[in-house]
Amino acid sequence: MKISVIGAGNVGATCANVIAHNNFANEVVLLDIKEGIAEGKALDMWETSPINSYSTRTIGVTNDYTATAGSAVTIITSGIPRRPGMSRDDLIGTNAGIVKSVTEQVVKHSPDTIIIVVANPLDVMTYCAYLTSGLDSSKVFGMAGILDTARYRSFLAMELGVSPRDIQAVLMGGHGDTMVPLPRYTTVAGIPITELVGKERLDAIIQRTKKGGGELVKLMGTSAWYAPGAAAAQMAETIVKNERRIFPCCTWLTGEYGLSDIYLGVPVILGSNGIEKIIELDLNAEEKADLNTSAEAVRGVMKVLDDMNAAV
Ligand code: NAI
Ligand code: 2OP
Repeated sequence: MKISVIGAGNVGATCANVIAHNNFANEVVLLDIKEGIAEGKALDMWETSPINSYSTRTIGVTNDYTATAGSAVTIITSGIPRRPGMSRDDLIGTNAGIVKSVTEQVVKHSPDTIIIVVANPLDVMTYCAYLTSGLDSSKVFGMAGILDTARYRSFLAMELGVSPRDIQAVLMGGHGDTMVPLPRYTTVAGIPITELVGKERLDAIIQRTKKGGGELVKLMGTSAWYAPGAAAAQMAETIVKNERRIFPCCTWLTGEYGLSDIYLGVPVILGSNGIEKIIELDLNAEEKADLNTSAEAVRGVMKVLDDMNAAV
């Protein structure tokens, strides 16, 4: 079972490293356009295999897609990250070109692959990969919800002084400041979060979650990679092992939640066929309104991509 990771920068290299450490694939191919970087990082990772006792072979290549041929899963991280003062949406001009050209090469060499998009602006780059790939939408989706939910869960764990493992949550919408954390679907070892955290603190944690990516950009001058890389690796693991786990993923909607022709974060069952099922929650009026606001924000950026495509 081969997995390819396109882009050997911060997120791509971290993702490949987590996949190798978790030992669920035979081979991880790391590809970058910069000469030597993927080869070097993949070799460095492989040299940790005797120490960390895994067998997954990590191979790096410079723009050689023949090495990716026959990948079961391909993770697209290639694209520029945001810098302080930039929103994710500011990246579209550069990243749409990168994601389009990469996707063309990916499906040429692995026509049956499942594609997980990570590059930002996430929802619209996933749409770009979908349009370019010609694959069924069940096989093209994006990583954001696992990351955003992990931030929310980790902040709640700090607030309560409990293990993040016991915190379960659902978060929906686009990967931006309009994302929709759902306290009604947040529990701690089965206990509703509202019984453990007061409204004011919960609201503050929700606000911090929405700006969680920006908090790290301010601290580091570039965007995060440990949690994003681990989140994309977790999606690949679920698919490869056909675990049918439920995660929020950026998914093509065809009427679910009253929304169509849009990529948006919703809970899905992930398995060997990609998105096996979209789960429709019975949202209340306020939650639905927040989801619609998030959808409108994503549609605005989708239109920028559609206009770019119409102009060529
Ligand atoms: P980075 O700059 O560290 O790495 C990007 C890599 O892509 C570079 O090594 C670059 O050489 C490579 N690249 C550029 N064009 C390429 C091409 N045509 N073919 C192959 N490789 C190419 O950036 P980082 O931090 O790894 O972020 C990558 C992307 O992921 C950014 O767009 C960032 O905004 C996004 N991101 C998304 C998250 C999410 O939740 N969906 C979370 C974190 C980052
Ligand atoms: C993040 O949320 C910037 O999308 C990136 O960390």
